[in-house]
Amino acid sequence: MLDVSELQTVEHDVVIIGAGGAGLRAAIECSAHGLDTAIVCKSLLGKAHTVMAEGGMAAALRNTDERDNWAVHFRDTMRGSKFLGTWRMAELHAKQAPERVKELEDWGAVFDRTQSGLINQRNFGGHRFPRLAHVGDRTGLELIRTLQDHGVHQGFEVYMECKALNLLQEGNAVGGVLCLWKDSGRFMRIKCKAVILATGGGGKMWRVTSNSWEYTGDGAAMAYEAGGELMDIEFTQFHPTGMVWPPSVRGTLVTEGVRGEGGHLRNSDGERFMFRYIPDRFASETADTEEEAARWLAGDKEARRPPELLTRDVVARAIYNEVKAGRGSPHGGAFLDIASNRPPDYIQRKLPSMYHQFKELAEVDITKDAMEVGPTLHYFMGGIRVDADSQEATGVPGLFACGECSAGLHGANRLGGNSLSDLIVFGKLAGDGAAAYVKGLGAGPSVADEDVAAAVRNATAPLNRTDGENPFALHDELCEIMGEHVGIYRTEEGLGAGLDKLVGWREKIKNTKAHASSQYNAGWHEALDLQSMAIVSEAVAMAAKERQESRGAHSRADYELEDKEHWGKRNLIISRGDDGQMELRHYERPAPPEHLAKVAFASVEELDAMVASGEVQV
Ligand code: FUM
Repeated sequence: MLDVSELQTVEHDVVIIGAGGAGLRAAIECSAHGLDTAIVCKSLLGKAHTVMAEGGMAAALRNTDERDNWAVHFRDTMRGSKFLGTWRMAELHAKQAPERVKELEDWGAVFDRTQSGLINQRNFGGHRFPRLAHVGDRTGLELIRTLQDHGVHQGFEVYMECKALNLLQEGNAVGGVLCLWKDSGRFMRIKCKAVILATGGGGKMWRVTSNSWEYTGDGAAMAYEAGGELMDIEFTQFHPTGMVWPPSVRGTLVTEGVRGEGGHLRNSDGERFMFRYIPDRFASETADTEEEAARWLAGDKEARRPPELLTRDVVARAIYNEVKAGRGSPHGGAFLDIASNRPPDYIQRKLPSMYHQFKELAEVDITKDAMEVGPTLHYFMGGIRVDADSQEATGVPGLFACGECSAGLHGANRLGGNSLSDLIVFGKLAGDGAAAYVKGLGAGPSVADEDVAAAVRNATAPLNRTDGENPFALHDELCEIMGEHVGIYRTEEGLGAGLDKLVGWREKIKNTKAHASSQYNAGWHEALDLQSMAIVSEAVAMAAKERQESRGAHSRADYELEDKEHWGKRNLIISRGDDGQMELRHYERPAPPEHLAKVAFASVEELDAMVASGEVQV
């Protein structure tokens, strides 16, 4: 048997897996509580999907419209989630986001400013007022930079290019992590009392995605294997605007900030087609004529928002349908035009990254010409089920999760800008939760050597086979299956066929072969990532097949309507059964607290009246 005592072994109070916005914010909080804290990240510190939230972070700061407040933000978020978000999480998020944003400013974040020197806020889809604090179109990057700078002074350890493979447990309780160094191919065992997962989503299961190579659902898979639950995993967000041309950059994000700053979507007939796609739920809040939309663009605060700023699910489906109807752009997208509405210097000042991205990658000058854009897999609304206040994962003592890998805040659809505020609000709460847990714990769990040895054996299997499947080819096959069967529109038949294919595919990944040595072996790491993707892809397809309605980002061509009475009252939960098989159950949502229900279900006028009378305190 492998002598586990020979493995590199380190010890910390708490280990955070993932170094994006949520992981960094959680690490800062854990350190502030005096815990010995470490971050493990598969990539380099700071290289995180957080930077793909370009347009801003949503918080009711009221800097550009004083009518904004937590209640309006909360209502927008619940409506955006199609009323499937966790009520308490949406409340915490709306109430705490402003404080977290101001804290970033105190820590040195350089936000764009209003004329009077306040943090500037821009419009984004589904937000009633300009609410996104931003730094041009590089907000996620500035968030990461600020948290990194601040975190350095907190003194936490960072293990970079180090992949977390398994949670190590005594019984159910988390007592460590087994990691693999990318460069040396050596293993490291971390002993700890608590783990916070902040690994992001799993966009790499689709070919057209804004996600980079790291996003393979690792956190969700680790939690599932440790006995945790996955919730709302069928809701995968297709951001409406990714690049469609040239092929090498297909899927690269084109920030919603372009539409927030006045960009129009047009089809090949030159029509602003979004006016034809306004759903009843948003009709009273969205401009239904170009004249009304133009008033909005001119800064008229009474004008309603243009339909380009409907929620992402609506806009992504509209572009998809225009292309299907033969009204797409030359490379299969829609035209996104800001040049006709805004002067070149404004575009370059507000959207510098987009300007350079299109110039360099597509040879398009966006101050003169329209961009070609189409849907790209961007975000997982679902993930690890957690307690709203502490972020502790259900069923696994000592395990916490925050950010994209956790579920709850966004329900069936996330509003743009709510991801960055999610990271800082719930990253902090996860740090608080883990600190409270560790301080109440005494000695940490003691993990059996045999469990560590078994995890090492599983990880080295692809190296030790004499022959087997090519991991890269299998990854490609997975993208094919997910693209064909688990895309923007889904059907019973398609999902069933997809699940059958996934079962066959899963058998193949048990036999991957990574050639060459263990050092810098990309094929080996790919083979290990496939193990996470196998769990998460099956969970997504299974839950998507079960939910027989269309809600938010989950569109069933065979069940086109929302089913308020049945599906509107339940979340789907996935966990591993005693027989090792994936199990799915329905969670009947309790009635919402009265003080929140009256805000979420009110009309705009009713809510404003409740705020004015003091019935809702803001
Ligand atoms: O379009 C964007 O800038 C993305 C923002 C987000 O996903 O929150």
